[in-house]
Amino acid sequence: HKKFNFRGFRWARAMIHAIQEVNNRLDILPNITLGYHIYDTCFTTSKTVEGTLAYLTGQNETMPNFRCSAGAPLVAVIGAGGSTLTIASSRIVGLYYFPEVGYASSCSVLSDKYQFPSFLRTIPNDNHQSLAMAELVRHFGWVWIGTIAADDDYGKYGIKYFKQNVEKSGICIAFSETIPKIFSREKILAVVEAIKESTANIIVVYSSDIDLSPLMEEIANSNITGKTWIASEAWVTSALIAKPEYFSFLGGTIGFGVRRGDIPGLKDFLLDVHPDNAASDDLTIEFWQTAFNCTWPNSTVPYNTDFRINVTGRESGVHPVSDQLCTGKEKLEDIKNTYLDVSELRITYNVYKAVFTVAHALNNLDTCVEGNGPFPKNSCAIIYDFEPWQPPRSVCTENCQPGARKGIRHGVPACCFVCIPCADGEISNKTDARECFPCPDDYCSNTLKNECVLKEVEFLAYDEALGTTLVAVSLFGACIVLSVTIVYRIHRDTAVVKANDRGLSFLIQLSLVITLLTSFLFVGKPKEWSCQIRQVTLALGFSLCLSCILGKTIALLLTYRGSKLNAAEKHDHISMQSFHQKLLVLISMIIEVCICTAYLTCIPPYVYKNMEFQNVKIILECNEGSIEFLCTMFGFDVFLAVLCFITAFIARKLPDNFNEAKFITFGMLVFFIVWISFVPAYLSTRGKFKVVVEIFAILASSFGLLGCIFLPKRYIILLKPERNTEEIISGKATTNDNSAPSTSASCTSEVTNSTLSSMVLDEYTDRQFQWILMYHQIAIISSGSYGFWFSMTQPKSHHITCAEKIMQVITGELLWLDFCFSDK
Ligand code: TRP
Repeated sequence: HKKFNFRGFRWARAMIHAIQEVNNRLDILPNITLGYHIYDTCFTTSKTVEGTLAYLTGQNETMPNFRCSAGAPLVAVIGAGGSTLTIASSRIVGLYYFPEVGYASSCSVLSDKYQFPSFLRTIPNDNHQSLAMAELVRHFGWVWIGTIAADDDYGKYGIKYFKQNVEKSGICIAFSETIPKIFSREKILAVVEAIKESTANIIVVYSSDIDLSPLMEEIANSNITGKTWIASEAWVTSALIAKPEYFSFLGGTIGFGVRRGDIPGLKDFLLDVHPDNAASDDLTIEFWQTAFNCTWPNSTVPYNTDFRINVTGRESGVHPVSDQLCTGKEKLEDIKNTYLDVSELRITYNVYKAVFTVAHALNNLDTCVEGNGPFPKNSCAIIYDFEPWQPPRSVCTENCQPGARKGIRHGVPACCFVCIPCADGEISNKTDARECFPCPDDYCSNTLKNECVLKEVEFLAYDEALGTTLVAVSLFGACIVLSVTIVYRIHRDTAVVKANDRGLSFLIQLSLVITLLTSFLFVGKPKEWSCQIRQVTLALGFSLCLSCILGKTIALLLTYRGSKLNAAEKHDHISMQSFHQKLLVLISMIIEVCICTAYLTCIPPYVYKNMEFQNVKIILECNEGSIEFLCTMFGFDVFLAVLCFITAFIARKLPDNFNEAKFITFGMLVFFIVWISFVPAYLSTRGKFKVVVEIFAILASSFGLLGCIFLPKRYIILLKPERNTEEIISGKATTNDNSAPSTSASCTSEVTNSTLSSMVLDEYTDRQFQWILMYHQIAIISSGSYGFWFSMTQPKSHHITCAEKIMQVITGELLWLDFCFSDK
């Protein structure tokens, strides 16, 4: 039997209203107009399948997999109503991954994505409802319960899940009945009989209102009272069931309704229905005819008289054919009809939501930005021509984009995974990758982790601020040395310059230029050759410098010793000749050259791509090849430095006018401080800062030597020329004390016997002391800033402690230095 379903007509009208709202709105799909087809399922599976196929093929001839209709692309199906119908149509459209959005179909099986890959809904899964019903029953302590299910998926699955839930808590099912889908009085009476016979007072009914109404009628006839009904959402709010005459049977019914919502403007839209406006719209004509109990003139719409539901929603049995013609002047406002009842919009609101779901999906598709889209290679679909599987999506977890991999989550289905971003240095370049792959050695992963990119190469470049500064400072130092050389050259015949071998002074200047300029080899991209010569040049430069200084200090020492001897002993005393000094330098240099040659031939340094510390960068550095050789090479320098220091330290008390030994001692101390603090700094630095630390040490030590050895002399040459006389420098000036020791400043053989005015001596000693203090301060400032700068550039905890260590070393050295010079 067929009836005109006013409630269903409201749903259909709500869909049209929603579509019109989308079309009028400027924020959703502004340039696109949605159209629609309405297919009446007539609450039967066959009609549903027919409608679905007709929709897909675009013709009334239902040929699957063949669409012969031009025009706008099909977007989605909204519906069908009942779950059984939806299951039928969704199986068909699911073949094409064609989206179907259910608004009332709540059956749990529709959640199965394997069977219904493209089905989505705006109503919750019935499992929740069944569980809630079970909780309700348990809450009231009811343990004897009857169940009635409609003979469809909705009823059967709903009751099945309800039973599963209650039986767990020891609740017993008194009877389980089914309402037939096709009207059969006997079957309904059998159900009524079962209810009557059972002592269970609680009856759970999972059925649509349409299927349930014949049963309710029989119950009313049989006058069954005293039962409490637990209603499913499909009938709990239905006007078809909630009739005043059923109140004595159904009063006290409890059930869960679908959440209600308001649809602005729906009431007016519902009222705005008239057969005149819809010439070919059969549904509207049928609605009109049924609502006003008349026949629309000249309409082909069959007018059903059987079981027609009258305007109040009441079923009035068999009607005679209404011979009254509709005038078209009938007033909808006058009738009280389920269709016009907008007070409780529940399923209707779901319809509205379903339309908006599709509209929003289309809008997303329309506003998709190429490169960020959900489709392969992050592409987008074109709104005017897209595949059915492309507007709404339904996934448990969004696809893992390239750059991440799928991770299994325990205890959940495989579709629900987590996307784990690839680790540094690993990539995944496809969607839903199972694994990330490591990049080749010279490559690292980009920030998105979807591509391997060449690693950034790190080294101290000339054009970066640090590199430029260091190089500039070293050039500046070299210039100062050159200026010293020029001054020495101009004043070559003055006492200060002549004192203690001009040749050696010149060699020291040369070596200082060499060491200062080695900074150039440390800055810039390390090459095979620069790696090989940088340490060697430095070592040679220092050994030249130190061996010359040693030559000087030994000469000073010998003169000092000599000055203490009496005349007889003096005869045997070996005094250091200029020749001897140069021989010493030569031998030292030969030794150092041998070590260097062995180093370079056996295990030379090479360029090394260091990738250990950072994943994104290759640190280009020099691998020193053999640490043993390197240590031997610099060890020799240290050896020379220690000798220099010892000899200078012993000779420092020499009371000459220009106490060179004291300055050398001091210069050596600066040298030691710098290189001692260099070791921890160097060992705890990484990357290009290693080179920076070394250059810093080179510069600091070279400047230290330069400052201590030459600047005081230059000061005298340029600013105090009156003191630059042989008498004063060599101590030939008269003194009131004959026993005063002879000076050592002049070690040249010409000057041996001299006396010095104590007055002058005192003045110089003060001055020396000032000098020492000044250097002291310079050393503290430079070493301190060295440590501080170091801790700033590498603000990591262990670097800070390292900087502290350096400071400790420096402080220790300086205390010692203080001690040494305190006996001024
Ligand atoms: N939930 C029902 C199902 O899945 C359909 C439904 C909901 C329904 N509300 C309704 C059917 C009202 C008819 C009337 O089958």
